[in-house]
Amino acid sequence: MSTTSAFTEFVQPQMGRVLTALGLDVEYERAEGNTLYHRDDQGEQVPVLDLMGGYGSLILGHNHPEIVAHARELLDQNRAVHAQFSLRGEAGRLGAALSDVVRRETGIKEPYLATFGNSGAEAVESAVKHAELVRVRAAMALAEEVAAHVAAARDAVRRGAATVDPDAYRLPALQGQAAPAAGIEGLLAAVGAHNAAALATKPLFLALERSFHGKLVGSVQLTYNAGFRAPFQNLGTRVRFVPMDRPELLAEIAEDERVVLLDTELADGRVRVVERDFPAITAFLVEPVQGEGGIHALTAEQGRAIRLFCNKVGTALIIDEVQSGMGRCGAFLASSLIGLRGDYYTLSKSLGGGLAKVSAMLVRRSLYQGEFDLIHSSTFAMDDFSSSIARKVVEMLEADDGKVYRQVTERGERLVEMLADLKSAYPDVIEDIRGKGLFVGVQLREQGEARSMVLRGSAYTGALGYLLSGYLLRQERIRIAPTGSAGNVLRIQPSAYLTDEEIERLRGALDRLCRILRYEDTLHLVHPASDRTIPKPRAEIRDFRGAIEGYEQPAPRPVTGPVRKVAFVNHLITPAHLRQVDPALADLSDAALRSFVLGMDPVKKAAPYPGVRIDSPLGSAVEFALYPLMVGSEQMGGYLASGDVAGIRADVEERVQAAREDGCEVAGLGMYTSIVTNNCTSLNVPGIALTSGNALTVAMGVQAMEHGARDRGFAVGDATLAVVGAAGNIASVYSQLFAEQLSRIVLVGSRRDGSARRLRTTVHGIYQEAWARIVEGGELAGIPARLAEEPLIAKWLADGPSAEVPADADRGKEIAAYLEERYGQDPFLTVTQDTEALHKAQLVLCASNSPEPFLTGEHFAPDAVVCDIAVPNNAVPDLAARRPDLAYMLGGIVATPNGESLHPSARAFLEAGQLFACMAETALMGLAGIDRHYSYGNITRRQVIDIAALADAHGLRLADYKSAHSV
Ligand SMILES: Cc1ncc(COP(=O)(O)O)c(C=O)c1O
Repeated sequence: MSTTSAFTEFVQPQMGRVLTALGLDVEYERAEGNTLYHRDDQGEQVPVLDLMGGYGSLILGHNHPEIVAHARELLDQNRAVHAQFSLRGEAGRLGAALSDVVRRETGIKEPYLATFGNSGAEAVESAVKHAELVRVRAAMALAEEVAAHVAAARDAVRRGAATVDPDAYRLPALQGQAAPAAGIEGLLAAVGAHNAAALATKPLFLALERSFHGKLVGSVQLTYNAGFRAPFQNLGTRVRFVPMDRPELLAEIAEDERVVLLDTELADGRVRVVERDFPAITAFLVEPVQGEGGIHALTAEQGRAIRLFCNKVGTALIIDEVQSGMGRCGAFLASSLIGLRGDYYTLSKSLGGGLAKVSAMLVRRSLYQGEFDLIHSSTFAMDDFSSSIARKVVEMLEADDGKVYRQVTERGERLVEMLADLKSAYPDVIEDIRGKGLFVGVQLREQGEARSMVLRGSAYTGALGYLLSGYLLRQERIRIAPTGSAGNVLRIQPSAYLTDEEIERLRGALDRLCRILRYEDTLHLVHPASDRTIPKPRAEIRDFRGAIEGYEQPAPRPVTGPVRKVAFVNHLITPAHLRQVDPALADLSDAALRSFVLGMDPVKKAAPYPGVRIDSPLGSAVEFALYPLMVGSEQMGGYLASGDVAGIRADVEERVQAAREDGCEVAGLGMYTSIVTNNCTSLNVPGIALTSGNALTVAMGVQAMEHGARDRGFAVGDATLAVVGAAGNIASVYSQLFAEQLSRIVLVGSRRDGSARRLRTTVHGIYQEAWARIVEGGELAGIPARLAEEPLIAKWLADGPSAEVPADADRGKEIAAYLEERYGQDPFLTVTQDTEALHKAQLVLCASNSPEPFLTGEHFAPDAVVCDIAVPNNAVPDLAARRPDLAYMLGGIVATPNGESLHPSARAFLEAGQLFACMAETALMGLAGIDRHYSYGNITRRQVIDIAALADAHGLRLADYKSAHSV
């Protein structure tokens, strides 16, 4: 087993698959400076320029020789690494060094004490805990002080030495809880109740919008990205997120969140009640430069506003320098560059020099709570190895009067200069360049309006930056990732030793990337994410901007009611269809496209197509939008065959939820999405009407075949119908409807288990409906007419409903048994598994849900009408060409009322002005205002007849079936 697959199998299954899908599935085996090395498929070592820099932990690069030598020395000396509960010399020296650097840089006189940990999130959490300890202490001291004052006041009044000031009863905070008649005891009871409620207030933390402070139980509450935070929001900490660019909100927050304790004051023989500010806000956390949130630097002015706010409300300022510190921005503390001073600092990442896992929480000495030593600890914290490495790092950063900081600043300026050149050359691609020092973000424009489906889809899923990472790695040998919470911001965090040559390499790579994005030449992005053993078919970047034609829609008609939004969930029929939706992929082979689609399995959702307006002649209108899943029929067939449908059902459900969130009132499930959800029944999405579209599919299929028979010059009533895949519900309803016109039907089942039994059910259903037609009366044709001549039926009719005859629901079964007994074999319905039987049929319905076509030119009678409603089709693709005598049609194609058309790239087999019948049923539900599920689970003949009438009224009619030949 390769390491990559062991990682995927035993460590991070989802991530492993995503990395593979994006072409990022490499295992690095060596690293130095800004270079990582992995082996390619031929075993050759491939150097990669690493601009991701260990998510910001490598300001000194990979394996800096001085740090490695220092580590070796420590190991060679058999240093005591884990001597807990002793005087940790290395930790002490590191603490002193950190305190010195912070004081030097900020000008703060007071020393800082360090609490060490193992990760950035841990440093954040220890700051949070410590600040809360300080707050709780202050709150208790205040409460005790108030209690003493209250006791003194009570005593003075009892002794007659004081009286209650009448204003005391009128204090708004008491909200009429105390009246003068209740005297001092009443007043103090109200004060006590108010204070008890104030003391129980949950502490509040403030953090900036877009902030990232880690993913542990506590720190994740302070992390803005709801994707990380939301599942855990019940675990504690109350946090309010403050927009960075609206410091004026701080005054409002101070007012909103103000909590007071009521205190008593005794003076001049009067007891007064006064308000005392209660410490309700534990701390304000800020990153001087937000990293994961998209590289946003705090300005000096914003910093000042925050500091003033903290001073005013008496709350601690925790400056999170986990990523921005240790030289990353050109100083030990990025906050020092804007003159911002913290009560706490959190440090990690580059502090470990790329070798050690270490973090530090620094707190002003005067704030430090002695017992924190005991109540906060960790086995690995303060280990001598990490502490010594970190001290070495601080020494290196501080050497030569801060040479590294100057170098970072100079290199950063050079890098940003190059990026700014690119931005001016590609303003349509690059939106912004920002950051500080070597903490730089390149914000790309959103691709939501791109014509390429791949680009639009990646913008929709937030995966654009990751797709580009795959290209940069595989094609340019450069490692860059987007920021965690802003998928369109590439972050560049190299080491201080970034060379001019490396900057120029990056320029070349980004220049090509910008051209790919500008020209929407997605071949270059898709190839790295496909089977890379298939050579890239072309190297040059071509302009595909004009390749997807625009299209004109008919002008909307005036409507009499609301324009309802309806959604249709579709999927790729074959990966080759990607060429239609994204012409840049034309040169990729079927195999390459297939491997791309298979690899994308973990992220199947794609961007919705803009809605198509469809107007009914009755005055209603809908906006019909596609919600695609990037998954092929082959995969769908695979899920069904393996029974492993939970994942794809969740994917379909997500599409329906997204549609509902976009305001859609109806969702239709197309092709395999209805099959894998058992015709919608597995879905649980309240508030949206669902349909598989099966009822109109049947109605249109019947009409198409009648049309075909007319064109071929034979009467449907004289024909034999063969139904392939007759065990299914749709085929069964089809057969029931045709049985009303003709009297010979061959039901062809598969050889799968249970098929024969289900074919019997189809037979019973046909006779059951025939009986219902007989009972309804009127003019009969087909099987009901023939049955009406049978003595059994005459007897049933003569008997009327009586206890002697079978229950009405069993009539179909009884008729089948009767016919077999009377004639030896059923004269109307033949059941078989042999497709040979098709030779005798003038009408053939193909409705098997086989994932592969299996009916060829050999199978059909001359001049037969073949309606293939199966998706994918049951007949081989070249059937129409090989057998021009056949009327081969894809049933269920519907003409829109006014020629409204799907986007040209989303039409698959359709032409302008057409919809598949299942789509048309979805649109129809919106047009007719049907707000309950329609074709949901099994459908009935009645539903087919009703929807056909409704379709006709709304101008949705059968398209010219010959269009099927164009496939
Ligand atoms: C500002 C900031 N704080 C905290 C953390 C969490 O650090 P860790 O991933 O080591 O837990 C990070 C990580 O990226 C960070 O950037």
